[in-house]
Amino acid sequence: MSEEQIHNLRNEALSLIMGTTTQEELENLRINYLGRQGKINQATAELKNLPAEKKSVVGKIINDAKVAIENALFAQKEKLSTKDGQTTWFDPTIPSVQPQRGHLHLVTYAIEEISQIFNHLGFVRVRYPEVEWDWFAFESLNMPASHPARDEWETFFVDTKSHPKYGNMVLTPHTSSGQVREMERVKMPPIRMINIAKCYRRQSDVSHVPMFHQFEGLVVDKDISIVHLKGTLDYFARRFFGASRKIRLRPYHFQFTEPSFEVDVSCGVCNGSGCKLCKAGWLELGGAGMVHPNVLTNGGIDPSKFCGFAFGWGVERTFMMKAGIKIDDIRILYNADLRFLKQF
Ligand code: PHE
Repeated sequence: MSEEQIHNLRNEALSLIMGTTTQEELENLRINYLGRQGKINQATAELKNLPAEKKSVVGKIINDAKVAIENALFAQKEKLSTKDGQTTWFDPTIPSVQPQRGHLHLVTYAIEEISQIFNHLGFVRVRYPEVEWDWFAFESLNMPASHPARDEWETFFVDTKSHPKYGNMVLTPHTSSGQVREMERVKMPPIRMINIAKCYRRQSDVSHVPMFHQFEGLVVDKDISIVHLKGTLDYFARRFFGASRKIRLRPYHFQFTEPSFEVDVSCGVCNGSGCKLCKAGWLELGGAGMVHPNVLTNGGIDPSKFCGFAFGWGVERTFMMKAGIKIDDIRILYNADLRFLKQF
């Protein structure tokens, strides 16, 4: 039998099987094709007449045809037996179809990991309102109304009456709004806060989304110095990014910290020597600094007795700097594309 004849045999069997309307017709076809004297066996018997090099090729085609016919018989048998809702056939030993399993969102995983690392250092995880008063988001952080520094926090305002003491209502543009709230909650230092929450800004491009997450650390105690800040951030970088990653502080300006820094982490790809992914070996993480005395005063803490440090970074941004994770548009985290999300 030629290869073409076997293909024809297969196609003929499949279309006849699909056309059957009773179990008897189906059984006759099974005998006709797969029975001992059936066409498939006949074709197999003829294999011996073929030259050696053809045998294995044709043998495989015959076998494939046999499997296809078996599957079609099986499917048709099931179809006929469930006709009119009367199931006459059920095999409980067949493995079931695995239900699809989801998992937590990447950002949720990142938040869990970040909070565990800081828990280890004795930081207490808190969350403060997403709809916040101007006072906590700006004014208490040493940014009086109409101060130009506010422009950086492209804020969403909520259209309500303003509060006589706390001012306008806003969607919190950063987790620093939790600093004075935490001071008011704890009242007496020591404070070791890690505030992880949603933040909102009027922005959307490859590296910004209007709703994102930040994690904010705040430590207030006696004799806290930049060394404590650097040590804490180094510890975080080693735990979150890997043992070889390092932290660097660059001078910067924020109204609520003095001195202020921008924090960089060494690039996980080139290890600090400079590559396509980074700026001369370093990736920018976010802001930090020593808490400004005015902020302590606004939180009811005496700046002549206590001092502290704070830092606040984007969760998404920090997560995207983990080695091995290459996301070049932050918006993909939030457009619910399962093809992307399932990979993690
Ligand atoms: N809140 C600042 C921002 O959103 C970051 C920051 C936090 C800076 C704490 C210093 C101290 O950019």
